[in-house]
Formats: sequence, structure tokens, C-alpha cells
Amino acid sequence: MAKEVNTIGVLTSGGDAPGMNAAIRAVVRQALAKGKKVKGIKKGYAGLLAEDIVDMDSKSVSDIISRGGTILQTARCLEFKELEYQQKGAEICKKHGIDGIVVIGGDGSFQGAQKLARLGINTIGVPGTIDLDIACTDYTIGFDTAINTAMEAIDKVRDTSTSHERCSVIEVMGRGAGYIALYCGIANGSEEILLPEKYDHDEAALIERIKEGRKNGKEHYIIINAEGIGHSQELAEKIEKETGMETRATILGHMQRGGNPTCMDRVYASAMGAYAVDLLDEGKSNRVVAYKEGKLVDFDIEEALSMNKSVSEYLYKVAKDLV
Ligand code: ADP
Ligand code: F6P
Repeated sequence: MAKEVNTIGVLTSGGDAPGMNAAIRAVVRQALAKGKKVKGIKKGYAGLLAEDIVDMDSKSVSDIISRGGTILQTARCLEFKELEYQQKGAEICKKHGIDGIVVIGGDGSFQGAQKLARLGINTIGVPGTIDLDIACTDYTIGFDTAINTAMEAIDKVRDTSTSHERCSVIEVMGRGAGYIALYCGIANGSEEILLPEKYDHDEAALIERIKEGRKNGKEHYIIINAEGIGHSQELAEKIEKETGMETRATILGHMQRGGNPTCMDRVYASAMGAYAVDLLDEGKSNRVVAYKEGKLVDFDIEEALSMNKSVSEYLYKVAKDLV
């Protein structure tokens, strides 16, 4: 028989993402609406181990839906990969009466959730990462805001690049995944998109294309480089040396993780947070909320973690065809 969950804990873990606050708000308000108590666990699994736990009511999440970051703060807690600390975490949950947890984060955070589930705490993962690199879902909270932030920044770099007839290597985040680079590459009409999933390491050919572009009268040459490829500064120096075109590297960095979430991120974060509470209310555990083919669904964490994801071949082709 399904175990009834009376007190729900909520935490954010891994890199923060715009829209996490909207998800926290949804978890709190949906849980309260179902007559449950809610506790906020600060700073991810690190805060759980430190018993940094606060009671939450409806007012605790007032005025946060539009704010970036996470009011619960977040952390990367390496200790939590060890059984001893996972057991300690589960004991702390029991001590505080927490019998269900919503973990908002990425694949790493879901692994922590899976461990807590095995130790008797009902857990549900909600995908929150700007990287879009969670295989079971077409949507992750924060991606939409991050691509819009990056796109606006790249537009600005493009203006100055054109004025000076320069080449710009612009590095975007994404850890090992190229989704942010792919989307910005298309949206910014860049001449090149370098993705970890597709990179051929043929910099000589890249340099030839830049020379060709120059001959054909291109006033700038924008290269969107994914963080997973990196070495943007070295690449810029090499391009300048070998093409004679002035080249600058811009690494957009953590600005991509901040800022007010877009409408899309607020809406999906709200829906996913509420859905996570519905799952706990139904006695489910060890599940990840996902958005697949236009619907909110859920997967077993193990199954979700075993899935593979790759960038869309069609979008990649479109990006190249439209240059
Ligand atoms: P993300 O959740 O964005 O993928 P990380 O990979 O940094 O980010 O993971 C966030 C946190 O999740 C880690 O700092 C750690 O506390 C926890 N975690 C990651 N991997 C595991 C694991 N194998 N077992 C238990 N906890 C884990
Ligand atoms: O996972 C989100 C992310 O911003 C990645 O794109 C990036 O590789 C990483 O986190 C950066 O982490 P940190 O904030 O620890 O530098």
C-alpha cells in the first residue's frame, strides 16, 4: 500500500536556474492546498546534513515567482555521494518528520534523491538546470531564461563585432552539452556553432571558412562556442594569427544563470512543482517529473538516468543551412 506523505521537504541542488523559485512556490502552495506541512531545506544536500531546515507557509513564498536564483540557496555536496552521509540525511529527514522530498536540480541531484528513496524517504525529482541536459525531459527549468539572456548578450557583441569588422568567439555555458550553444547559434544567426556533440576538431577548416567569409564580404564572423569545447581565448588568438582578422573572445559565464525567469520558465516550473506534490500525494516515490511530447509525465529515476539525449540533427542542420 502507498505510504501517506504528511510533511514534504523541498530543496534545490546543483547549479541554480531561473524558475527554481517558481517551482519552490508551487511545491509549497500545492502541498498546503492538500493539507500537508512543508519544510524548506536550505543549500541542497549540504543543508540537509547541517539540519538547515525551516518551516514554510504560504507567505514564505510570496513575491518570489519573478525572481531568479533560489530562495533556498543551493550547493554541491560531495559527501552526499557516500552511503554514510545518505543514511545520515535520511535519519535527519525522519527526525524532522519529513516523509517526502521534492528535489529540484539536475541528474546529479536526482542520484541523491534516488539514494534517499532507497532509505525510505519518498522522493520526486524536478528538472532544474539551464543546460537542458536531462535525457528524460524535453524541458528543464531555467533553459528558456538562459538562452534569452545569452541571446541578448550575443546581439550586443555582434553590434560591436560588425562595427570593427572582427571575428568574435563567444562561449556559452552548458557543461558537456551543446543545447544553449545550438539555440543561440540559430537565434543569433551565428556563422559557426561549435558543439561538444558535433565538434570535429578541424580548426584548419574553420580558419579556411573564416578567410572565405572575409573574401565574400562578411563584416563580422560570430562563432558560438560551447563551454564543453572551451579554450575560447586560445582559439581567438589562433584565428587572429592565421586569418589576420582581429578576433576577441567573450565568455558569457554566470550571467546566464541569473535574472528574472521568462514566462515559459515560470509556467513550467509552477506546473512541474505542483505535479511533484501530486505524485507524493499519490504515494509515489523515486520518480522524476518530465515534459515529453507536450505532456507532463514521470519516470522512475533509474530509468530516467539511463536514458541518452543528443542534440537535434534537424536543428543542427538548419543552423548550418541558414548561414
Ligand atoms: P546537477 O544536479 O545539476 O546535475 P551536480 O552533478 O553537481 O549537479 O549534483 C548536485 C549534487 O547532487 C551533488 O553535489 C551531490 O550532493 C548530489 N549528488 C550527485 N551525484 C550523486 C550521487 N551519485 N549520489 C548521491 N548524491 C549525488
Ligand atoms: O549546470 C549549470 C552550469 O551553469 C553549467 O552550465 C556549468 O558548467 C556549471 O553549472 C558551472 O558551475 P559553477 O557555478 O560551479 O561554476
